[in-house]
Amino acid sequence: MTPTRPITWFDDHALILDQTRLPHATHMLTLRTLEAAAEAIRDMQVRGAPLIGATAACGVALALQDDGSDSRLESALALLAATRPTAVNLHWALERMARRLRPLPVSARHAAAVAESHAIIEEDIDTNCRIGQHGLDILRAIAERKHGRVRVMTHCNAGWLATADHGTALSPIYAAHAEGMDVSVWVSETRPRNQGLLTAWELRARGVPHTLIADNAAGLLLMRGEVDVVITGADRVAANGDTANKIGTYLKALAAHDNAVPFYIAAPVSTIDFACPGGEHIPIEDRHGDEVRCIAGLTRDGQSAEVRIAQSETAVDNPAFDVTPARLITGIITEHGICTPAQVRALGGT
Ligand code: MRU
Repeated sequence: MTPTRPITWFDDHALILDQTRLPHATHMLTLRTLEAAAEAIRDMQVRGAPLIGATAACGVALALQDDGSDSRLESALALLAATRPTAVNLHWALERMARRLRPLPVSARHAAAVAESHAIIEEDIDTNCRIGQHGLDILRAIAERKHGRVRVMTHCNAGWLATADHGTALSPIYAAHAEGMDVSVWVSETRPRNQGLLTAWELRARGVPHTLIADNAAGLLLMRGEVDVVITGADRVAANGDTANKIGTYLKALAAHDNAVPFYIAAPVSTIDFACPGGEHIPIEDRHGDEVRCIAGLTRDGQSAEVRIAQSETAVDNPAFDVTPARLITGIITEHGICTPAQVRALGGT
C-alpha cells in the first residue's frame, strides 16, 4: 500500500517514509530513539522544512522516554538543533517543545512531549490545508482570466512528503485538481538531490498532470510564455521577506521576474524567522561534494545503484539553499492569507 503521510507518530515510535529510497521504493522506517530521529533528519530520510520540525519534536519525546531530566532535555534539544541549519521550522519546533517542557516537573515531561508532538503534526496538517485554500484563489484567478489550463512551475519538493500532509507549494495545486480545474505542473529535477523526482512521484500518485524538466530548462519555458505562475516552498523567510529555499529557486525567481510571471512562496508562519532581518543572515547548509559527484537510480535491470559522474578528485561546492530577494517575490501564501514580502513582519503577532 502506498503511504499518504510521511510521518505517523505512535507515542513510543515514529513511522516514517524513507525519502532517500523514493521514487523507486516505498520503504518505511521506525524511529525509536532520539539518535534515530536525528539521523533521519541529517541523512534526509525525512526532509522539507515542516517535516523536519515535526520529526524533531518526536525526537525530543523519544529522548525523554526513560529520563525527563533537565540535562537529558537540553542535550536532546542541542543534538536535534545541530542536524540541519537552514530550515527554521526545526528551531521553531524545538523552541516550542522547550517552552512547553522546561517549566514542567521531570515526571510530567515525557507525556507532555508526546502530546505536543501530536499537536505539532496535527496543526501542520491544518495549516497546509489553509495554505492550499488561499493559494487556490491565485490559481482560480488565472483560470478565469485565460479560460484554459493553468500551468504552474515549482522547484524541489514542497508537497505532502515535505510536511505532515498536503504540502505547501503543492497544496493549492492539489486543491485546484480536486475541484476539477485543469492544472499542470512543471517539475524541475532539483539537482543534486533530485527532490523534483519526489514531486513527480507525488503528482503521479494523485493523477495531477506534470512534466519533469532539467533545472536549466526553466528559463526558456518562462521566456516562451509556457508558465502562468511559479510557486515554491521555503525553508526560512526573513522578516524583510527575503526567502531561503532549495538551491535553484533564485534562478527561477529571476527568470520569472524578467518575463513578468508571478512568483509566489507558500510557507507556514512557522517558516518565518522574525528575528532574522534579511536574507544575508540566513545560514546556508553546505552538503557533501559526493551529492554532486555521484547520482543514484536504477540500473536497466531494475537494481538500485549509485554511480559516480565526476572524478572523486574534482573540487565541488554544494550549497543546499539559495536566497531569493523580496523584490522578486510577488506574494507569500501562508495559512493566514496572501501577503506581500513587505507585510511579512506584521504576521509576527499572529
Ligand atoms: O533539503 P530539503 O529537501 O529538506 O529542502 C526542502 C526545500 O527546500 C523545500 O522546498 C522547502 O523545505 C519547502 S518544504 C514544504
